[in-house]
Amino acid sequence: MTQKVAVLGTGKIGEALLSGMIRAGWAPADLLVTARRPERARELHERHGVTPVGNAEAAKSADTLILTVKPQDMGTLLDELAPHIPADRLVISGAAGIPTSFFEERLARRTPVVRVMTNTPALVDEAMSVISAGSHATAEHLAHAEEIFGAVGKTLRVPESQQDACTALSGSGPAYFFYLVEAMTDAGILLGLPRDKAHELIVQSAIGAAVMLRDSGEHPVKLRENVTSPAGTTINAIRELENHGVRAALIAALEAARDRSRELASGNS
Ligand SMILES: NC(=O)c1ccc[n+]([C@@H]2O[C@H](COP(=O)([O-])OP(=O)(O)OC[C@H]3O[C@@H](n4cnc5c(N)ncnc54)[C@H](OP(=O)(O)O)[C@@H]3O)[C@@H](O)[C@H]2O)c1
Repeated sequence: MTQKVAVLGTGKIGEALLSGMIRAGWAPADLLVTARRPERARELHERHGVTPVGNAEAAKSADTLILTVKPQDMGTLLDELAPHIPADRLVISGAAGIPTSFFEERLARRTPVVRVMTNTPALVDEAMSVISAGSHATAEHLAHAEEIFGAVGKTLRVPESQQDACTALSGSGPAYFFYLVEAMTDAGILLGLPRDKAHELIVQSAIGAAVMLRDSGEHPVKLRENVTSPAGTTINAIRELENHGVRAALIAALEAARDRSRELASGNS
């Protein structure tokens, strides 16, 4: 039997997921999308060949519903959907900071809910998506969510209690690397390089380091030691990073992001 999947509220993340699913082999005919604006629905149909429908129709006819509206729009969307979703349908939330209990309280009893926190590299099929089961989601439901989000990158199962920590690490993670690239490019300008050259040097170094971290199986300390020769240039730079408390700043920054995620989640409980 063909499984129909609907993406409700198909914005940036929803469209990234949709296009990844099509590249991974899902048939556009089995994918339904909903959008708030008719021109957005038309655009999705023209770009991907998927079928735009209303929220209520998606709720009635899809086997799996992926909700990708902004967190502040989720309550309104659920009010609209609740009367139409049969309790055996899998509901996957892609919204940051909304606990599965928020959905379970508003949907039919025993509706399986899976919460996923992805990140923007979903746009280039390099996402890190963190997946947690609600009270009624089974291993099969989790596997289905993994199959869907696996189309745009890696997936990892965690207990829902760890979602706030994961939001701080991987949800916001790309932003920290963008920030580092920005700061290092500024340093390149200070050292007399033109901005475009400094940018290219840093971006390629970031890509090279990321691939080594992923593929070498080596600990980051070992990889760093390999470029830190006695009395060399790198150790001078590392001393300055330590003097300026960069490691402590990163730990404090991620703790602050985790705390903010908790705060947002408690506002949605
Ligand atoms: N972007 C990120 O970095 C990121 C990372 C991880 C997770 N997320 C999560 O992913 C979700 C989507 O984020 P996004 O950046 O993709 O936002 P987005 O581009 O604003 O997408 C949300 C879409 O939902 C539409 N929408 C809102 N209410 C609707 C309704 N009742 N019925 C149908 N469509 C509706 C919006 O329509 P309009 O175009 O008319 O506003 C918009 O196109 C959020 O919950 C966010 O927490 C985002």
